[in-house]
Amino acid sequence: MYFSALVGRIRGDGADAWVTHYEATAARDRGEDVIVLSVGDPSIDTPAPVVDRAIERLRAGDTHYTPAPGRLALREAVARAHAARTLQAVSAENVIILAGTQNALFVASLCVAGPGDEVISFDPMYPTYAATIEVSGARMVRVRQPAEQGFRPDLANLAALISPRTRAIFFASPNNPSGVVLSESELTTIGKLAERHGLWLIADEVYAGLAPGGRQPSLAERLPEQVVTLGSLSKSHAMTGWRCGWLIGPRQLVFHAESIAMCMLFGLPGFIQEAALVALAMAPEAESRIRDFCQGRRELLLRALQDVAGLRPCPPEAGMFMLVDVRGTGHSGREFMRALYESQRVSVMDGGAFGRETEGFVRICFATDEATLLEACRRIRVFLQDGPANAGHERRAAG
Ligand SMILES: Cc1ncc(COP(=O)(O)O)c(C=O)c1O
Repeated sequence: MYFSALVGRIRGDGADAWVTHYEATAARDRGEDVIVLSVGDPSIDTPAPVVDRAIERLRAGDTHYTPAPGRLALREAVARAHAARTLQAVSAENVIILAGTQNALFVASLCVAGPGDEVISFDPMYPTYAATIEVSGARMVRVRQPAEQGFRPDLANLAALISPRTRAIFFASPNNPSGVVLSESELTTIGKLAERHGLWLIADEVYAGLAPGGRQPSLAERLPEQVVTLGSLSKSHAMTGWRCGWLIGPRQLVFHAESIAMCMLFGLPGFIQEAALVALAMAPEAESRIRDFCQGRRELLLRALQDVAGLRPCPPEAGMFMLVDVRGTGHSGREFMRALYESQRVSVMDGGAFGRETEGFVRICFATDEATLLEACRRIRVFLQDGPANAGHERRAAG
């Protein structure tokens, strides 16, 4: 049977990147001895008051359709939190509630570009970006964030790549996978270019709560007609599976986003929205809990890997991931990921999944308990000391 051109566009390298990860999670779910450090899903639980509220609302029968753009109280709460963080004057009309930042990226992409257009993003980037941007029919243009410059954006490269077809710049700060937080001056340059060329700025702030001190610069107040801020409770509150996120932008854009949400989502479940209100009310404590958790694990991972021959860990400024340069081991990132998984049952992510600048790297999520992280590092050492085949044998022999 016939399939649309879209299904081809959407099945890019980003989708392949998840194969080892899904194998690992399936093996773990079968009860096998597998360590999964390939996804940004904190191992800590969602705060109890949030869970309690969801259960209470479920029992109260809050199981019906909800308004497509989200309940007013939640939109107001998201607007208040955003205004307090960025100083941008926004209200509920600037907010739409969506199923996570991923869903918001998809909606933003469909609203701001189409066939014949170009959309810029910074390489390395989250693996879904290419398909999410190109689903609209636009072409994605990659701006370098070179490894040798600490994965900071090459802004001269950005200026050179803007063309009359460019419609938008998508960026995540803190970045996944590098953990780079865009500085005030980098954002100012990006903002000036966007202003000069009339471009949308799609600011993915899913890791905003994990920025140092929970604070990071934003262009939202300076360019309210051009900046679209996306976020969710996934990382800040250990709520990845709740799928509660939002898009904040000019009213006209939110109006169009609502039309897309009407035919794509038709409202997030009410009990999730009510629980999200509780989550937002406790954001400062929840965010500092996850920041402290990540900070401790980051130090632990760094200490455990920094003297391993062939590895060069790159400590992040923020977030829950560490890029590790594995070129010194003679493996490519993909080979390292695959061989490590096959011999030691530790799943990390191939850096190449995030773009060209991270080929030869792997990304390790360190948002897990200490014992698991230390055991993963022990297995990585065994893998490198003994070679893939022997290491696997030793692990199995040890039971
Ligand atoms: C940069 C980036 N954007 C978006 C997402 C999706 O997040 P959400 O769970 O809010 O959909 C992720 C998830 O890891 C991410 O790393």
